Amino acid sequence: MAFPHNRMRRLRANETLRSMVRETRLSVNDFIYPLFVCPGKEKKNPITSMPGVNQYSVDLLDKEIKELEALGIPAVLLFGIPEHKDPLGSEAASDHGPVQEATKKIKDISPELMVITDVCLCEYTSHGHCGVLNPDQTVDNDRTLELLAEEALSHARAGCDLVAPSDMMDGRVGFIRNRLDEMGFENLPIMSYAAKFASSFYGPFRDAADCAPKFGDRRSYQMDPGNINEALREVELDILEGADIVMVKPALAYLDVIKAVKEKFGMPTAAYNVSGEYSIIKAAAAQGWIHEETVMLEVMTSIKRAGADLIITYAAKDMARLI
Ligand code: PBG
Repeated sequence: MAFPHNRMRRLRANETLRSMVRETRLSVNDFIYPLFVCPGKEKKNPITSMPGVNQYSVDLLDKEIKELEALGIPAVLLFGIPEHKDPLGSEAASDHGPVQEATKKIKDISPELMVITDVCLCEYTSHGHCGVLNPDQTVDNDRTLELLAEEALSHARAGCDLVAPSDMMDGRVGFIRNRLDEMGFENLPIMSYAAKFASSFYGPFRDAADCAPKFGDRRSYQMDPGNINEALREVELDILEGADIVMVKPALAYLDVIKAVKEKFGMPTAAYNVSGEYSIIKAAAAQGWIHEETVMLEVMTSIKRAGADLIITYAAKDMARLI
């Protein structure tokens, strides 16, 4: 008998065989596409640090939404850029803000497309922090909860399908859940940014959403990158407070966290392939150093293999075309 007896290469001989035994498959249903909505008319502002990503004014959303629909992408995640910023982020809860108007418009154009709204104050506050400030410039957790709940409620009134709090204040999921329930939105699900790390991979997003903190950083509310036990506690609390989908963010540098969360809780689990993860690939591909499509596919496969059921990514349209 020829040696070796076991030949792993037998099942790698051709693409048909390989695809028959492939363990992880991407589907267009896995993807959520982030959209940045800005005030004004006929605005399509390219984000320099994120090639292919633009801010759109509400009137220009039609084409983008039809394209997503045609590609079969099931959901968008909306971020709003307000007209004016102030210390309380007042425009976040305006019934006529960009996110609220975009939600109505998208539900008009494409009722089946799920509209998920990011609930946070950093795009709306003049100081760029994700909550209200105390006199000593720290973020006041409990006063922030009130404002987040108002913001979530205005998204609900506009007709969104899910709300996604990304602020990392303590107790926000339960607080938002209660407020939504009181107001008759008990069937509106919450996708919580449950384990959100204080990551340097968010750099390009802060250009896109114009939300870099004007002083300090977010490390007093977002998580320390070294912590996985704490991530599990964060996720557990959000589940106890009523989260329907839990998210780990970023994705690539936190695949172990995705895996641990999925294994421990068995919840619908989302992972956010964030701006920096996207831009790194775009930049290297532009230099001709890597092949963009295959690297993106490999990255998405790794996130799914780690345990993510849903992947939020700026490459969602490209992925839908490729798979
Ligand atoms: C807002 C928010 C951020 C991202 C999503 N929601 C930025 C931050 O926390 O600084 C980052 C997304 C990305 O980098 O793609 N709180």
